[in-house]
Amino acid sequence: MRVFLTGATGYIGSAVRDALLRSGHSVTALVRDPEKAERMTLRGVHPVVGDLVEPRSYGSAAEQCDCIVHAAFEQSKRGPEVDRQAIDALLGAAIRHAARGQTVSFLYTSGVWVLGNTVGAANESAEARPTPLVAWRPGHEQLVLDAGRGRLLRTAVIRPGIVYGGARGIIGDVLKDAANGLVRVIGDGRNRWACVYERDLADLYVRVATQPQASGIFHANDEADERVGDIVDAVARHAKMRPDVRHVPLEEARAKMGPYADALALNQIVRSPRARELGWGPTLHSVAGNVARLLEEFRAAREAA
Ligand SMILES: NC(=O)c1ccc[n+]([C@@H]2O[C@H](COP(=O)([O-])OP(=O)(O)OC[C@H]3O[C@@H](n4cnc5c(N)ncnc54)[C@H](OP(=O)(O)O)[C@@H]3O)[C@@H](O)[C@H]2O)c1
Repeated sequence: MRVFLTGATGYIGSAVRDALLRSGHSVTALVRDPEKAERMTLRGVHPVVGDLVEPRSYGSAAEQCDCIVHAAFEQSKRGPEVDRQAIDALLGAAIRHAARGQTVSFLYTSGVWVLGNTVGAANESAEARPTPLVAWRPGHEQLVLDAGRGRLLRTAVIRPGIVYGGARGIIGDVLKDAANGLVRVIGDGRNRWACVYERDLADLYVRVATQPQASGIFHANDEADERVGDIVDAVARHAKMRPDVRHVPLEEARAKMGPYADALALNQIVRSPRARELGWGPTLHSVAGNVARLLEEFRAAREAA
């Protein structure tokens, strides 16, 4: 399969890139930095140097592919606007591909934060009640889902939990903060995070990309329902020097971090029955139970960077 991937240098996108390559697919990736593009070539990826906000830089390359995976996100104020522009451009490329009578799929990366605080366990048919940080996201999901109604264009929305593995992301920050002696927890730490191991998540992308019946929403999480306090405790126990853990009231955190604080304070129990129907299942079942392994991965990833 020929796959066009955005975000191939990012946390999720790099895991998806590697899983696609391991499965023998051809990957063409949008990369904005020419130096990173060189590194992509060494990994066997065909880089296209461009930017999400310049559809002309990647539209025709995307149009040649049987599958488009959008895993990029610009971490800036205009992030949601850029995402919308990218969805329009990528769906346009997919529609042009389909107009030639060839099937094509489009996979959009969302996240479990669109579920807000869950009431009971939220599966893929639960109503979206997004935390303010991602209030715009359900609209983008709907655009993608609506575009998949035709015969030749299949669309899917993947909602990862908080990703762990390697040195990046929120759990990577907890590992780093613990090593530096101070971990901040918003609230009392009794709230539960929905988390997923990066390689398990990448495996789900490959399954959705390659199974012709896979359309609609797919959750990806390890279903451990871990309390934040338990994750932090487990990480602290593995640190060379036990770090201080400071509980920051939500109001105080919000004043410093804005709506990101509310996202970190979410209490979520998430289930992934539609993902499991594709034969998917997590191989790692918790953060707390795998801290030694995650620390090894963390160190290896930092050395390789
Ligand atoms: N990480 C998580 O735990 C998690 C969980 C659930 C959902 N998500 C969602 O997954 C998506 C990806 O997250 P991530 O953690 O992988 O992010 P990330 O590590 O920050 O990666 C973002 C990627 O997007 C690329 N990018 C940013 N702006 C771009 C632009 N203008 N043009 C082209 N490429 C651009 C970056 O390229 P450069 O290398 O050039 O910066 C990078 O490859 C986001 O929508 C996020 O909300 C993440």
